[in-house]
Amino acid sequence: MEAKGVEGSLEGRRVVIVGGTSGMGLGAARASARAGAEVSAAGRRPREERAAGAPGDARVAHETVDVTDEGSVRAMFERIGALDHLLISAAPEPGSWGAFLEQDVAGAQRYMSAKFFGSWACARYAAPRMRAGGSITFLTGGAAVRPRAGASMVSATFAALETLARGLAIELGPLRVNVIRPGYTDSEMWSFLDDAAREQLRERVRAAMPVRRMGTVEDIGHAAVFLMTNPQVTGSVLDITGGETLVDGL
Ligand SMILES: NC(=O)c1ccc[n+]([C@@H]2O[C@H](COP(=O)([O-])OP(=O)(O)OC[C@H]3O[C@@H](n4cnc5c(N)ncnc54)[C@H](OP(=O)(O)O)[C@@H]3O)[C@@H](O)[C@H]2O)c1
Repeated sequence: MEAKGVEGSLEGRRVVIVGGTSGMGLGAARASARAGAEVSAAGRRPREERAAGAPGDARVAHETVDVTDEGSVRAMFERIGALDHLLISAAPEPGSWGAFLEQDVAGAQRYMSAKFFGSWACARYAAPRMRAGGSITFLTGGAAVRPRAGASMVSATFAALETLARGLAIELGPLRVNVIRPGYTDSEMWSFLDDAAREQLRERVRAAMPVRRMGTVEDIGHAAVFLMTNPQVTGSVLDITGGETLVDGL
């Protein structure tokens, strides 16, 4: 099926969001459903432990998957069958990276396994099932181009994923492959901070970013639908950082 019809419409399309049960993935799942798609939102936790879906989320089905387990990823895409668009936002645990001199190879590999190879596996087992006009979207972060001390593994992993997307855009074409590169986004990822620390983070982000606001999961949902529906965008990195990559960090 060629991508055509109403601009920005996902009517009649099947969208799979891995990491779609929370944060930016949930933002993308809700935006896709609003654009008319049938959505499968996947994460490790069973449905009853997840955040409540948005009103009118009858179009969002839940799937359980662990992206660090290749068999689990393969089985999920066998269950789902044909699909049109895939977005992977599944996140390694906060704090699973650290200072270079305090990490060992196994620790560094755990981070890269979850983020890079988790995304790789989803693309690998979804691509053969994707219909014409389809797309894959990976999710990285501003650290891909603006490294910070203590997070070199995050930068390296994000950069690898952005490069993988460009390679796959060629290898899997006409399937399109793109990246959303978010900046500080007010998602559940920050729920390990207490209320005061989280508000402090928002303040610091507002002060530092050229747009004077912290990103929202809705900003990411908007970008996700754009990348799924614009048939001329492939091999692109869409920077949704509010200018984070242009200024001094926090
Ligand atoms: N938020 C930010 O400020 C920010 C900024 C830049 C980049 N990023 C990056 O953006 C990505 C998404 O962040 P977020 O803020 O949306 O995080 P989030 O709210 O914590 O959501 C993470 C999602 O991934 C799922 N997940 C985690 N591990 C998984 C696994 N092994 N297999 C399958 N699903 C898994 C979670 O569901 P379950 O818990 O049920 O598994 C959840 O749906 C991350 O890679 C993060 O590094 C975030």
